[in-house]
Amino acid sequence: MKKPWAGRFKRETSKIAEHFTESISFDNRLWRYDIKGSIAHAKMLGKQGIITKEDSEKIVNGLEEIAREIENGKFRFREDLEDVHMNIEAALIRKIGEVGGKLHTARSRNDQVALDIRLYLREEAKEIISFIKEFQKTLLNIATKHLNSLMPGYTHLQRAQPVLLSHHLLAYVEMLQRDEERLKNAFERINVLPLGASAIAGTTFPIDRIYVAKLLGFDDISKNSIDTVSDRDFVIEFLSNAAILIMHLSRLAEELVLWSTEEFGFIELPEAFTTGSSAMPQKKNPDVAELIRGKAGRVYGNLFSLLTIMKGLPLSYNRDLQEDKPPLFDTVDTIKSCLIVLNEMLPGVKFNTERMHETAKEGYSTATDVAEYLVKKGLPFRKAHGITGKIVLYCIRKKKKLEELTLKELKTFSKLITDDIYSCLKAEESVRLKISQGGTSPDEVRRQIKRLNQLIR
Ligand code: ARG
Repeated sequence: MKKPWAGRFKRETSKIAEHFTESISFDNRLWRYDIKGSIAHAKMLGKQGIITKEDSEKIVNGLEEIAREIENGKFRFREDLEDVHMNIEAALIRKIGEVGGKLHTARSRNDQVALDIRLYLREEAKEIISFIKEFQKTLLNIATKHLNSLMPGYTHLQRAQPVLLSHHLLAYVEMLQRDEERLKNAFERINVLPLGASAIAGTTFPIDRIYVAKLLGFDDISKNSIDTVSDRDFVIEFLSNAAILIMHLSRLAEELVLWSTEEFGFIELPEAFTTGSSAMPQKKNPDVAELIRGKAGRVYGNLFSLLTIMKGLPLSYNRDLQEDKPPLFDTVDTIKSCLIVLNEMLPGVKFNTERMHETAKEGYSTATDVAEYLVKKGLPFRKAHGITGKIVLYCIRKKKKLEELTLKELKTFSKLITDDIYSCLKAEESVRLKISQGGTSPDEVRRQIKRLNQLIR
């Protein structure tokens, strides 16, 4: 088929070059936005008298018909027409004749492709935000059920202090809340109309960009035509936000892998979300969680692809920019699938709360509480820390738990110790006393659940 830009060419494009430069194999997923944008553009051209009202209507009707054809699978995208923009324009001209050739007045594929990506990303960002909310609700539900479940909190992956399982799960709700805020904030920079920049310099036609922005629901219009066709910051920002988001999901996935090992024994993953081994009959593997962890690498890679593609580009549009779409699409798809699968899997996770509770009591996890006890009896913290360290050392030597020490034994370390110390040696008590804001006491965690429930809705 003759190319829309064939005028100055004497020879045909090489088939090899054609196949090399095409983007229709992946940008066809932008068709809905391409048509939406073209309809708004055609309406504006009609309103401004740049084309006649009748021509504008013919173009709009033609585009709507093409949309129906694509919707019903009756449309064939052609590689020799390069990309989604030229495929649709050529189809319009085939359908309504020469008047279809007026659609591309006062625009270029350079501002058109920027428009399509912005319209696409706007929808996807909204959808991802709603998926995040769903997942937050799932986590909150589980957290609410485990307000009385204790687990060992870790630092350096060594048992540190007892915490509520609820509290631990809410940490992820907080991370996701920041992810959501970042996406919402980036939305402001996505939702800007690029159309009207034309190829690079603007146009001689009396276009009305504000009108197009209104038709398409943009909050603002871009201010510099050169920047407009060069800019993919909004994609990079989205990819960065997605990278942070999947880093959070990956950390959760890692804990699911770890906790489901025989060694930890904290959880049992639902069978429907695990797989067996083709070689070892006894195995039940956490592949879903592992893949979420793995896909984080892929999403980071996508961010790096685009940063690298952009770093040496002179202004303004360069064809390199066509390479923005595969990493963007892949990130959107990957993030959505990870959120969906985690949201489905997590309610089926069985928490072995007894084992978690037992483990929370081990490893001298209330040693910090002993030090704080001594501080309350009048010792400077550093001194109290030192004495408690000696007590722990004694316990290790005697193979005793802290709560198994007699008062007589304890008193040899400090005369300030009386039998009220035993309450703070208990993990339950240790947790109950963490009353500081953001701490792990049940009252405080309950308050945070309430706050998050209101926030997320
Ligand atoms: N397929 C191109 C892209 O994705 C559309 C813009 C092409 N513009 C051009 N002047 N060749 O970036």
